Amino acid sequence: MTDHNLIKEAAVARERAWAPYSRFRVGAALLAADGSVHTGCNVEDASYGLTMCAERVALYNAVSRGHRAFTALAVVADAPCPVSPCGACRQAYMGFAPDLRVVMANLAGQVTRATLAELLPSAFLLPDGH
Ligand code: THU
Repeated sequence: MTDHNLIKEAAVARERAWAPYSRFRVGAALLAADGSVHTGCNVEDASYGLTMCAERVALYNAVSRGHRAFTALAVVADAPCPVSPCGACRQAYMGFAPDLRVVMANLAGQVTRATLAELLPSAFLLPDGH
């Protein structure tokens, strides 16, 4: 799976975002070690704090299907610059894939890349690495 195709999957997932409060739609596509792709979109709630980011929806979607090893994550939003995952999402991913390649893109076609460890240095981990 190329980055380009992973971004395309995230863009399709973004179309399903439920964001009536912020109007900011985000899509994510997570590439598992076996080559399968698992997507997510942000889902908002009238009780705003219940909102769930696209990245965690994708992660929990994948984990609930039995996947625990991941190689890349694409995140797509309509923003002047590519958006990077929030701190909560970075922490959620850290226990599964500290070496995850994060590919961030906007609808204008700009793409930036970083590893999860670059995005979340000195992350909290349990002594067993999770
Ligand atoms: N959001 C995401 O889904 N991912 C991010 O990386 C940042 C923010 C969502 C949460 C909320 O629904 C909207 O974008 C505005 O914050």
